[in-house]
Amino acid sequence: MQIDEIQRVTLVGMGVIGTQIAIQSACHGYKVFGFDEVPESFERANRMIFSAMEAQQIQPVVGLEAWKQGMQKVLLTGDLEQAVSRADLVIEAVPERLELKRQVFADLDRLAPAPALLASNSSSIPISRIQDATKRPAQCLNLHFYFPALGINLVDVMGGEATAPATLEAGAAWVRSIGCLPIRLKKETFGFCFNRMQHAARREALHMWAEGAVEVEDADRAWMVGTGMPFGLFGMMDQVGLDVVYNVEMSYYNETGDARFLPPEPLKDMVDRGELGYKTGKGFYTYPNPEYKNPDFLS
Ligand SMILES: NC(=O)c1ccc[n+]([C@@H]2O[C@H](COP(=O)([O-])OP(=O)(O)OC[C@H]3O[C@@H](n4cnc5c(N)ncnc54)[C@H](O)[C@@H]3O)[C@@H](O)[C@H]2O)c1
Repeated sequence: MQIDEIQRVTLVGMGVIGTQIAIQSACHGYKVFGFDEVPESFERANRMIFSAMEAQQIQPVVGLEAWKQGMQKVLLTGDLEQAVSRADLVIEAVPERLELKRQVFADLDRLAPAPALLASNSSSIPISRIQDATKRPAQCLNLHFYFPALGINLVDVMGGEATAPATLEAGAAWVRSIGCLPIRLKKETFGFCFNRMQHAARREALHMWAEGAVEVEDADRAWMVGTGMPFGLFGMMDQVGLDVVYNVEMSYYNETGDARFLPPEPLKDMVDRGELGYKTGKGFYTYPNPEYKNPDFLS
């Protein structure tokens, strides 16, 4: 598959990130299909995305008006076969569970045209653990997005041993074609590039908070002023979803067996109480008016 052959893109899993990838692609002229087993997912994700934009006073990389137009162009269907039967590139963005992703890839392999590329947006699972669920491992890759709706246009592009170089070339070129910056990983790396760097900071922040060494707000102030980033690590975790954060932390632990990577108990307690961050109205902050929205937050 060459980049100029990619015209139709399908997203499988229209949650917080699948919806953003679909809209970002639609904004750049691709014909985009979206499939989710829960029909309301796209609408729900969009509500969350818009409030996150508002809470953080950040615009999508394409600008707000273009984003709204892109939203209208995503073709939603509840039929997986219809969603992928003519796709050139399929991106999976279902929850972070290996067996689920392997099952989805097996289904995509059965239903998508033979030349189509199959990408996973997983935050932590390298494609080498998924691609052998298909008969086209050379055409499988990781395309790991951050938050195009919140102005972060980075995408990690990573292959496994069985991934063909041409697949990575086409993946990186496609990422560029939708206004995002491809970050190429030269070998499989747990956590990808930016995520791995950010994870180290987030792990320290979580442990400092759990030890009672710092308040969430002060840690976020320090991060924002020190790095110039528009949001702090805790505010960011609330946006991602604390269940997603917890699962990612557990993946690091399961991957390494190193106890330093175990997420702290108070984080697990929050997840068990359903305090999942923005999407449930409460996490480290309370929504829709988290303290970091206060104009005096950094003074
Ligand atoms: N949230 C983020 O910031 C972020 C960023 C980068 C990567 N990721 C990764 O992207 C993936 C999705 O994360 P998310 O935060 O969007 O999760 P989410 O829970 O918001 O969305 C997942 C969606 O997948 C749907 N789904 C579940 N099983 C399905 C199936 N079999 N077929 C089709 N749809 C199905 C769910 O209904 C839901 O709408 C995960 O692997 C996550 O690690 C998330």
